Amino acid sequence: MITTLRIKLFALAMLFLSAALSKPNLKPINSNELDQQFQKSIYFLLKNTSPADGVRGSVIAAPSRSHPDYYYHWVRDAALVTESLLNLYVDPRYNNSPLKAQIRSFLMDHMNFNSKIQISSQSGNGLGEPKFWVTGLPFLGPWGRPQNDGPALRSINHARILSIALSEKWPEAGQLVPFLYSAKIPADSLIKRDTEFVAHHWREPNFDLWEEVYGMHFYTLLAQRKSMLFGASVATAFKDQGAAHFYSTQATQITNTLESFWAQGKGFIDATKYVQRGRNKSQLDSAVLLAVLHSEVEGTRFSVNDPRVLATFLSLKNSFNSIYTINKNLAYGTAIGRYPEDTYDGYVTNSRGNPWVLSTAAGAEYLYRLMMSYLKTKQIQINDYNRAYFADLSGNSQLKSGQVLSPIDRTYSLIIKGLFVEADGYLSRVLFHRNADGSLSEQMNRENGFMQGAPNLTWSHASFITAKLRRDEAITIGRAFLK
Ligand code: NOJ
Ligand code: NOJ
Repeated sequence: MITTLRIKLFALAMLFLSAALSKPNLKPINSNELDQQFQKSIYFLLKNTSPADGVRGSVIAAPSRSHPDYYYHWVRDAALVTESLLNLYVDPRYNNSPLKAQIRSFLMDHMNFNSKIQISSQSGNGLGEPKFWVTGLPFLGPWGRPQNDGPALRSINHARILSIALSEKWPEAGQLVPFLYSAKIPADSLIKRDTEFVAHHWREPNFDLWEEVYGMHFYTLLAQRKSMLFGASVATAFKDQGAAHFYSTQATQITNTLESFWAQGKGFIDATKYVQRGRNKSQLDSAVLLAVLHSEVEGTRFSVNDPRVLATFLSLKNSFNSIYTINKNLAYGTAIGRYPEDTYDGYVTNSRGNPWVLSTAAGAEYLYRLMMSYLKTKQIQINDYNRAYFADLSGNSQLKSGQVLSPIDRTYSLIIKGLFVEADGYLSRVLFHRNADGSLSEQMNRENGFMQGAPNLTWSHASFITAKLRRDEAITIGRAFLK
């Protein structure tokens, strides 16, 4: 009896020892480089806002006018860039800083610009128009349209700005508030135009965020659901009860639709269903991960700690790990691309896809947030999808599905720490391949890691900034576990 117990204890001790030694290859992140890049990314991002030859408040996707031509205001890119500026804005470390003032002044210009493009597109192809000249006129060449994630993401930002303007008592609030929301139909305010559009059109097929596939998309639907939930609270605040009820009903129905995207047999969430035009593929796509990061509503289904999301993340990691040569270098985290079958190399579409900066940074952001969600709920539930991964992170091969770990368990701490270290690996991957001056392109060459595709893609910088801010938060919340 006693001997077997001793042997078991010994085996257990060995396990923990090997845990401490696991991931021997991953290099610890260089925090000076990280801080440096964070500053550079803020600089490059702001440089791409309000370009000299455009209307103030517009955002270029990248400063490149050819090979590839990204010198446009994309509604999605601009919304995600604005989201990351808002994340900076609300960080208390920037209180009373020139940066905060600069962001605020951009936000004012940006809202005016958004109103302008809402109006110019309403009379054309509609609010799903994805791409505008920096003058505010819609781009009318052939393109994958509509892309209905744009208005949803935009309305989420506007709702956030509204609540900030009110809580900080902005002097402009008196004029700004009715400009942002008014119950009037036909809608004539920033948020209401978009929420009405989302509420009435979310059932319609449209192009995905990669602008290639016409169908119903997890990414778009999740953004639309958040837009409806935020829209409902704004409407309630404005005593627009009918609309509030209508928006919440849409949110519930969208959630039900989203359920069908979970492909139990494949073990991941499908990116697109009902494909009508465009490549039919495995449907394993980092768009699902981005969806959760951009459109999570804590406490609802498909949030960061939904086991189906981790299952999808692990499938992505596995898949990209084996297809990109640069992932053979284990000193850095897995470089992640859009989807395994991608043929867009940043210049032409009949080539081979590469890892993307923003999907790789998303890997980091996701793991920091997952770690924080476990710290907040003070438990980790083991299931069939995460068991092997957590066994690997903690070195505890005895984990069983159904087990619930709490902060007093050593395995819990090891998983928390492991998630953080792995998250860092993704940011180190970006740091390793970035250009010496801190500029980040859209992609990293799959064979040699060199920056490729649109140079200084604004969204690349935005994703790096947001991931770094999450890391800071994760350190604050998880300090006790990170020693
Ligand atoms: C440019 C980009 O929108 C990219 O996502 C897409 O793969 C190609 N065009 C081809 O449509
Ligand atoms: C191509 C990407 O696929 C799309 O998501 C993005 O909006 C445009 N490039 C502009 O950055």
